[in-house]
Amino acid sequence: MRVAILGSGRGSNAAAILEAQAAGRLGRAHVVQILSDKPDAGILALDARFGVPAAFVDPAPFKTKLEGEGEARFIAAVLAAQADLVVLAGFMRVLKPGFLNAFAGKIINLHPSLLPSFPGLDGIGQAFRRGVKITGCTVHGVTAEVDGGPILDQTAVRVEPTDTLESLAEKIHAAEHALLPAVIARLSERG
Ligand code: GAR
Repeated sequence: MRVAILGSGRGSNAAAILEAQAAGRLGRAHVVQILSDKPDAGILALDARFGVPAAFVDPAPFKTKLEGEGEARFIAAVLAAQADLVVLAGFMRVLKPGFLNAFAGKIINLHPSLLPSFPGLDGIGQAFRRGVKITGCTVHGVTAEVDGGPILDQTAVRVEPTDTLESLAEKIHAAEHALLPAVIARLSERG
């Protein structure tokens, strides 16, 4: 299963996927391409570390969604990679029907809360400020409804009275780093 990872940030989840692959824990999946909509994103430095091609793709003209010319460029890049699975690992743009239809049923997303609670931006901060005692992370299939597609797996994380936003974020990221590679491995074994 050929995997393309899309991300906008530091790329710790992409690194976790590549570490799982190196350790033989990614099933029949292997990462063939990393793509980012931010030219200076940390995720783009992973090509040097893991030897996987990483590229900035210009998302213009929109700021928070992927549509129009930027969308066409991303579709072309994923098609060129011949990806069987598109993994959104911190890709901070709303996908529109052009991209969704091009890769229907092949896109998964990681979100830092127990969906359907706290969708959208800053899932960790939303949960922390609401005072929930259990939060976590979710991997789900991507549909036109933002953070609303079918849930594939989740990990719960307890919020301790001593937790700060920073310590909670650290625990959720650790849970994400285990969950996302495990889901990809499972999908790759589906046959
Ligand atoms: C992750 O915590 C992921 O759940 C979140 O972005 C972070 C990316 O971190 N995604 C969203 O909030 C999507 N709505 P990373 O760049 O270190 O992998």
